[in-house]
Amino acid sequence: MKSNRFLWLVVVIVVLLLALPVSNLLVGLPSTSLSQMEIQDAVYAEAFGALSAKCVNCHTTEHQLPFYARLPIARGVIEKDMEEGLEHLDLKAALRPEADGPVSEVVLAKVEHQVVSEAMPPGRYRLLHWNGGLNDSEAEAVLAWIGKTREGNYAAADVSLSFRQEAVQPLPQSGDLDSLKVALGNKLFHDTRLSGDHSISCASCHGLDKGGTDRKQVSDGVGGARGNINSPTVYNSGFQFVQFWDGRAPTLEEQAKGPVANPVEMAAEWPVVIETLKEDGELLKEFEALYPEGITQENVVDAIATFERSLITPNSAFDKYLRGDSNALTEEEKQGYALFKSSGCQTCHVGKILGGQSFEKMGREADYFANRGGVQEPDYGRFNVTKEEADRHRFKVPTLRNIAVTAPYFHDGSTGDLAEVVEKMAYYEMGLRLSDREVEQIVRFLHTLTGEYQGRLLQ
Ligand code: HEC
Ligand code: HEC
Ligand code: HEC
Repeated sequence: MKSNRFLWLVVVIVVLLLALPVSNLLVGLPSTSLSQMEIQDAVYAEAFGALSAKCVNCHTTEHQLPFYARLPIARGVIEKDMEEGLEHLDLKAALRPEADGPVSEVVLAKVEHQVVSEAMPPGRYRLLHWNGGLNDSEAEAVLAWIGKTREGNYAAADVSLSFRQEAVQPLPQSGDLDSLKVALGNKLFHDTRLSGDHSISCASCHGLDKGGTDRKQVSDGVGGARGNINSPTVYNSGFQFVQFWDGRAPTLEEQAKGPVANPVEMAAEWPVVIETLKEDGELLKEFEALYPEGITQENVVDAIATFERSLITPNSAFDKYLRGDSNALTEEEKQGYALFKSSGCQTCHVGKILGGQSFEKMGREADYFANRGGVQEPDYGRFNVTKEEADRHRFKVPTLRNIAVTAPYFHDGSTGDLAEVVEKMAYYEMGLRLSDREVEQIVRFLHTLTGEYQGRLLQ
């Protein structure tokens, strides 16, 4: 008698526990504008169909709440996931159905990583939605779309056939630039007359023989004035979507105006600099041959920016590998690249310069700044520009090109040890604890990213 009642109780509990997931199998989600988009391309259509069936709920502003979301407990369970999901990725904005530009390399890499690692949707959601994940054919469709989008928009002209759909691509051999402007910009880049006391030039903090940096924790300006942030490399800076750690300069031209007048950098005044340069008859002639207005701030900045766009470092061992020379990397280095990808590093360090395309929070998975201590204004990153709370501690993802020769690392220049950086990145950005061996393999891979400038490998 007693055991009979117990049995009934168990049956009732089981039925109640199953009610939601089973009903979720039967009642589909309402459709969203994403699934109603008109897409000509069959590969794209299939992928968007899969994404809109399984992912929109937490990754668009038009949350299509399942019916049970009005129940208090269920709501609590899914609401946090939905908010957090949208914070990480707004699919509708990312796929930009209205815009004509291709989906960004960052979004492609992030979606790919989630699909390959089968990490989405989060576990709690799957408890209630047994078919919440992508099935094999849906996953295949999404990966096919990612591959096709990369091949059509991002593949380098000389990349080997097997790497045409790779998240990371080789650098071009050169930019298509006016060589006279490049030569003039080169001179100006090394000209100390751009500083207040004629003691430093751009090259003082961005030595082309020092990986494009000064190799100091933070830079020293005119009169020993101490800066508050690490000097990034100027090599390949022309490929970045914005300049500076906090992205406050949209172009290299805008960027180049800054240091001259910055009191802790060159501490000069532009009108004075222009007058000084005009006294140089040789230089004046060179300018007049290229610019009808002669020496002006705008033209100085234009020449310097053109020169910076020529600072490309092709032919690294890794690029040779991507171009088809499978012996260009050792087995250890290849293993390191595989680990780099399986750890998800390429979801931020993506494209031909492995970075420079997005802002990301330093300490996404664990609080970097609480652990480091001594937080100062430069640590706020993108927040200093937008004053948006969500941008606090977000930085432009730095390039990993030539990373082995640009120590110390991070915006705070806090460490010169690449192994320590890799360990911290895995932990603070991906929530992973890598073994010493894995860290070493990734470091070996990072060493293959050192390229050539004017035919010589950077040292
Ligand atoms: C129940 C809500 C939910 C669903 C459904 C969901 N996600 Fe997410 N998604 C999240 C949350 C929460 C995060 C952030 C936390 C995390 O990364 O685990 C996230 C993060 C992401 C990110 C960003 C990762 C990064 O590196 O920033 C991508 C990409 C993503 N999801 C893709 C997908 C795809 C593809 C699907 C469909 C198969 C999907 N998600 C379905 C909640 C969801
Ligand atoms: C006193 C040292 C110093 C001098 C001189 C200097 N810079 Fe910089 N440069 C820095 C520092 C530090 C940063 C990073 C500042 C930040 O992000 O807030 C930087 C950033 C840059 C960046 C952005 C790179 C990136 O990845 O965001 C470029 C490009 C650059 N400098 C070019 C120049 C040029 C061109 C000159 C000469 C006109 C110059 N710099 C002079 C120290 C210097
Ligand atoms: C969520 C985005 C994200 C992921 C994932 C990520 N990084 Fe980073 N990485 C950044 C940001 C942002 C910085 C700059 C942080 C700072 O300076 O405070 C950075 C900096 C670095 C630097 C130092 C660059 C320099 O010039 O100072 C290295 C090296 C690096 N990452 C390697 C890796 C490796 C290896 C992985 C994978 C284990 C990885 N990153 C994963 C965003 C990311």
